[in-house]
Amino acid sequence: MSLFSAAITGVASYVPETTLTNKDLEKIVDTNDEWITSRTGIKKRHILKEPGKATSDMAAKAVQKLLEKTGTDPSEIDMVLCATVTADYNFPDTANLIAFKSDIKNAFCFDINAACSGFLYALTTGCKFVETGAVKKAIVVGADKMSSIVDYTDRTTCVIFGDGAGAVLLEPSADKGIGMQDFLFKGDGSGVEFLFQKGGGSMHPASAETVANKEHFVFQNGRPVFKAAVKAMSSSVIEVMKRNNLTKDDIAWVVPHQANMRIIDAVANMLDFPKDRVMQTIENYGNTTAATLPICLNDYEERLKKGDNVILTAFGGGFTWGASYLKWAY
Ligand code: UT7
Repeated sequence: MSLFSAAITGVASYVPETTLTNKDLEKIVDTNDEWITSRTGIKKRHILKEPGKATSDMAAKAVQKLLEKTGTDPSEIDMVLCATVTADYNFPDTANLIAFKSDIKNAFCFDINAACSGFLYALTTGCKFVETGAVKKAIVVGADKMSSIVDYTDRTTCVIFGDGAGAVLLEPSADKGIGMQDFLFKGDGSGVEFLFQKGGGSMHPASAETVANKEHFVFQNGRPVFKAAVKAMSSSVIEVMKRNNLTKDDIAWVVPHQANMRIIDAVANMLDFPKDRVMQTIENYGNTTAATLPICLNDYEERLKKGDNVILTAFGGGFTWGASYLKWAY
């Protein structure tokens, strides 16, 4: 039995200054603004260009903003979780490096890799520690430097992905009617062949051959992923609503992973949910993998109200998918 509920009490994000527009991509690969806009909804992405900077640097910038915004001293943070598929190194965990770069010294830190669902998996994990009282203040980060694993000669992937980071602060709430209320997640490893990074792991360790075969880049077979994403996200949201006795009128916001505007629209249609209550930021950032959801929450923060019912949903490589239901705390 949990003592508290876990509530998001602050949110912040960071994206690099350098942008890559559809027009820029037209000069790099055989594509055009019309195709990218109509098939994905994306107009630009942010790219971390600075040499010597990695996922943890973007994440640390988001965390520093979060600490400032919420008036939190780094010493108060007990836990840092980072969802990412673009860790700075295979080990140690990026969460450790984020804590180091943010002057957080009293926290235990680890990464969660569930691809585009990573932020929700990490959020739920953090909530469980906060709900028991074991952790008082946790930071959950979603961050990815997708440009480090994207092949800029492959038009099917390079137009989609961007770099960015978002972070939330989790704190206990004695009022259990506020904060995280429910979650539902699933995974299916048979999806691996449709969306993965083939080389560099223990299956195909990095070698001259894996590099020559471009196996260190993201591979995606878009169409089956598209179909699976629509089905999985809409059914997860419906199931979470059903078991919490929520109708669409009870929901203030649906926050879907930002992979493709057409996926977001299809999910809204399947839920019969008005699009003006579905967060969408994909136009400005592309798909930032683990970062899309906290970036959405940050960009819509002014429009969220205390007590709002919010459902977040994601789908990603693995396959991984699910939905979380929370009551906004501030
Ligand atoms: O975030 C984790 C989960 N990921 C997702 O949810 C992404 C899911 N998939 C998608 O978003 C879409 O499948 C894509 C955006 C990746 C692709 O869109 P699509 O409508 O499924 O296009 P397609 O792959 O079926 O390709 C249609 C055509 C092809 O040409 P032909 O064979 O019809 O002549 C492609 O070669 O579009 C062509 N094409 C392009 N044309 C111009 C593919 N990429 C491009 C491009 N510019 N960038």
